[in-house]
Amino acid sequence: MHSTFLFLYFLCTIGVLCENSNISSTDGQYLFDFTKNDDVYDWQEQSDTVRSVGMSKAVFVLHQNTQFRRAIFFALLNPQLNGAGFAGIRSLGYHDLSNFTKLQIMCRGQGQFNGFKIVLRHKGLNDEPNYSFEQYFQAPKDEFAVRSLPFSEFKAYYRGKRVNNNETLDTSQITSIGIQMYGGVYQPVKQKGPATLEVDWIRAL
Ligand SMILES: *[C@@H]1O[C@H](CO)[C@@H](O)[C@H](O)[C@H]1NC(C)=O
Ligand SMILES: *[C@@H]1O[C@H](CO)[C@@H](O)[C@H](O)[C@H]1NC(C)=O
Ligand SMILES: *[C@@H]1O[C@H](CO)[C@@H](O)[C@H](O)[C@H]1NC(C)=O
Ligand SMILES: *[C@@H]1O[C@H](CO)[C@@H](O)[C@H](O)[C@H]1NC(C)=O
Repeated sequence: MHSTFLFLYFLCTIGVLCENSNISSTDGQYLFDFTKNDDVYDWQEQSDTVRSVGMSKAVFVLHQNTQFRRAIFFALLNPQLNGAGFAGIRSLGYHDLSNFTKLQIMCRGQGQFNGFKIVLRHKGLNDEPNYSFEQYFQAPKDEFAVRSLPFSEFKAYYRGKRVNNNETLDTSQITSIGIQMYGGVYQPVKQKGPATLEVDWIRAL
């Protein structure tokens, strides 16, 4: 009896049996877990069609069958000749992420391009002319994988252009989280056409 207990305790300490015992501290905080119950209805489109020259489109939908559940971001980018154009979605809501150092997204990109960015806003300054805090990433193409985006690498932008100031993201008052596909007007790589980003979850770690 005693040795059985010791053996189970051993398996537990090396994480074989009790891998969920400390899940909250090792897994961080799930902001959106589309594999579980989170839905897409509170996400709104933020694409360039608000301007007369804008012609891009984004939708965010739930995708599920009996085996899986996730969300898909569909984007069609029709940028202007200089690359100006964007298609995105966002979720408004207050998050205090000051205990965490990075955002992680479990995803896969398919389509003509796989450059995306995460767009954060803070302190309720959710609309222009206030800056957004953005970080670019390349989505994994074949298998789902985690992309880690340190909060320290989110930089201030205004309409896609880097703002040269010293304002830093206040992670204790995140009020908007967005995903965007960009034309790349101020970037070396220009993107256009259709692309998808399948998303299992987004969490802070
Ligand atoms: C859980 O993990 C964290 C960090 O790895 C550690 O500081 C904490 O003591 C652990 N808590 C328990 C109950 O094991
Ligand atoms: C941050 O971590 C501390 C210590 O674990 C905890 O007391 C506090 O509630 C956490 N803050 C938030 C916003 O989760
Ligand atoms: C944006 O910033 C301006 C000042 O720069 C402020 O007056 C305005 O209320 C802010 N609005 C939103 C919704 O972010
Ligand atoms: C940013 O900070 C540096 C050093 O602290 C300072 O020299 C510079 O003037 C600041 N720039 C702005 C736009 O505030």
